[in-house]
Amino acid sequence: MQNFQDVQRAATALREAIEAAQGPSALPLGACRLDANASADADAPIGIVLGTGLSYLADKLQDRVVVPYADLPGFPVSSVEGHAGAFVWGRFPGACGEDDCIGRYAIIQQGRCHLYEGRSPAEVCMGVRVMAALGAKKLIITNAAGGLNPQFDAGGIMCMTDVINHTGHSPLTGFNCEEWGPRFPDMCAPLDPELRALALETASKMNLRLERGVYIGVHGPEMETPAETRMYRQWGADAVGMSTVLEIIAARHMGMRVLGLSCLTNKNLPDCMTPAPLEEILAVAAVAGKNLGRLIRAMVTKL
Ligand code: HPA
Repeated sequence: MQNFQDVQRAATALREAIEAAQGPSALPLGACRLDANASADADAPIGIVLGTGLSYLADKLQDRVVVPYADLPGFPVSSVEGHAGAFVWGRFPGACGEDDCIGRYAIIQQGRCHLYEGRSPAEVCMGVRVMAALGAKKLIITNAAGGLNPQFDAGGIMCMTDVINHTGHSPLTGFNCEEWGPRFPDMCAPLDPELRALALETASKMNLRLERGVYIGVHGPEMETPAETRMYRQWGADAVGMSTVLEIIAARHMGMRVLGLSCLTNKNLPDCMTPAPLEEILAVAAVAGKNLGRLIRAMVTKL
């Protein structure tokens, strides 16, 4: 089921909360206008979704406005440890690094809800749709994932080249919401090649190793069995997680350009499976999340 009215209501409440905290006139000339129809591409805010344990980046924004999901009508709050529940609005420092140098505005979703919490695909995708309603045209989506490619190390970062939706759901089921996009959206390139090239180039300049690979999204919450792990690898997946794929589908449906980055928090090798408890995933995400944050900060000035 589509929830266009709910998304509009939550987006309006978020816009009003940001403007109340900052005042519309506080937005510098040329900065985004929090309006899906008004923003030119270069002025539009960057939408960023921060997954499990990856909240670090949101603390780095300037002129921050934090709006808890609980303050937005109908917006789902995550029940999962490691998922802060708030939108953070603000700007990254400009390219020259001076405080008064106006950088790129961003709207960050700090934490998300999941299918395995009993949330619907519409609820899972509400954050991305709200960000689009506020004018975001580019989306950087992150998550914690298990590495399936034996060459990947825990603590590394993978730039998604493609995705496999193995959740059994689509956020586009039901009538098509024409305001958002077409009935049969193309999925030839769910992840944007130009944004990926920029991420790889930026990482290389920073001497940061950035893997490339296919992310498979599963329903969860149980972790994968050895047989499933072997099968996902044979299907061509390099990392597995319980989020992201539905949000990418919703974002592409609305015409957003998407960059996907996974923090590889553990290794999933079918012949030597070891448990990956949440505490361990959070501890690795906290470290890898800093590198991920550095990479995104270095990239945004060029978006
Ligand atoms: N499997 C599924 N989801 C995950 C994993 C994993 O190994 N690690 C982090 N999120």
